[in-house]
Amino acid sequence: MSKDVYTLTSPDGKSMELPIRKGTTGPDVIEIGRLFAEQGVFTYDPGFVSTGSCDSDITFIDGKEGVLMYRGYPVEQLAKHSNFVEVAYLLLYGELPTATELTQFDTSIRTHTMLNEGMLRFFTGFRYDAHPMAMLSAVVGSMSAYYHDTMDINNPEAREVFTHRIIAKLPTIAAAAHKLTAGQPFIYPRNDLNYAENLLHMLFAVPAEDYEINQVAAEALDLLFILHADHEQNCSTSTVRMAGSSGANPYSAIAAGISALWGPAHGGANEAVLRMLKEIGNAKNIPKFVEKAKDKDDPFRLMGFGHRVYKNFDPRATIIREMCHKVLDQMGRTDSPLFELALELERVALNDEYFIEKNLYPNVDFYSGIIYRALGIPTSMFTVMFAIGRTVGWVAHWREMITDPGGRISRPRQLYSGAAKRDYVAVKER
Ligand code: SDX
Repeated sequence: MSKDVYTLTSPDGKSMELPIRKGTTGPDVIEIGRLFAEQGVFTYDPGFVSTGSCDSDITFIDGKEGVLMYRGYPVEQLAKHSNFVEVAYLLLYGELPTATELTQFDTSIRTHTMLNEGMLRFFTGFRYDAHPMAMLSAVVGSMSAYYHDTMDINNPEAREVFTHRIIAKLPTIAAAAHKLTAGQPFIYPRNDLNYAENLLHMLFAVPAEDYEINQVAAEALDLLFILHADHEQNCSTSTVRMAGSSGANPYSAIAAGISALWGPAHGGANEAVLRMLKEIGNAKNIPKFVEKAKDKDDPFRLMGFGHRVYKNFDPRATIIREMCHKVLDQMGRTDSPLFELALELERVALNDEYFIEKNLYPNVDFYSGIIYRALGIPTSMFTVMFAIGRTVGWVAHWREMITDPGGRISRPRQLYSGAAKRDYVAVKER
């Protein structure tokens, strides 16, 4: 019996061998591409719980052990020793940069942060209360209307220009969305500031006075961007790959990813966690909300808890929780009732049979909002912050997908349970 195939036998006894494909680490996969041609059946896996969509070299997650690695480097080591621009280089190009490579990449990002002035006029068309994620997806999608010169996805130089442009400009677009809702003038980027410093400057500086960058805030943002940078084939990254697989321009593929991230089951959860904590109000209400989360007839879920892959602690949540203590202390917000409430909610949930049985732990979104809030970032901007970090992962996966020699348009099949064939009936006979 060969060890590198699965043998599948149909009910009428027709067998076929399905090759097993092994990766560097993690579960093997079974190649089922010939299944329909040879057995006339599809696999069925709504939500893709057991389905691998691609062969990727970028990020590895072990949900049981709580492991997250970018290009083989544990995220804990990158969080401790690296910075976001260096991690972006690693995710994009596969290796940690030399000092010269890092300087060149950093300089390129710093000098491409400005927007076409015409794009700025887009923001005057939005209502003052437009959600920043709506503005982000709209303006990023509009980049394909401005940057025709980087739309030839088969041209390596064009792909490189797109990569640096989108990563450099995302914070500028994000900050412009915030300034629109704040009713304040747009603040131009500065080339002398690093990635996180520049974002803080564009978010919070005003023409009326000098703005001093808070280094604790900048370091916290940089670390949050590292932790949000990539996460294998999550919903939004799979959306970018799917959209890009049709040959659509990369700006539109990233805009599709932004839209997918917005959902409360995905990147929208960080905003939903803060709203949930405010709704809970104080620790005496926690048992009531935990019971609601367990009630199958109640759509309420504990936002920031649970994960499709992690059935243990999300390593990012552990790092962010530790960072909360440091940021709140150093920002002088030691009396953070919301953080205390979050810690108590975590304690209660992790001692509850339901959460233990279903392996529901805090995920990356549970604590991140506490830090964003401590930095003065409005709740409606939380998912935008997630998108800034994740854009690097989306671009890395888009590049991997578009340069795959065996790449094909993504086009899943279905189980059809609709009406059987029937004839048209004239309206007067219905
Ligand atoms: C992110 O995929 C990624 O990698 C995503 C992400 C990334 O970096 O890209 O990590 C970022 O999106 C983190 C997740 C943020 N979302 C939330 O915090 C929203 C709350 N969590 C859930 O909606 C849910 O846990 C999901 C969406 C995260 C995962 O959904 P799954 O894998 O489809 O799991 P499920 O809904 O089938 O839940 C399994 C069981 C169910 O009970 P049963 O039907 O088996 O009885 O657990 C229950 C669920 O009802 N459950 C919860 C719960 N999460 C799952 N019950 C109460 N509260 C919760 N939060």
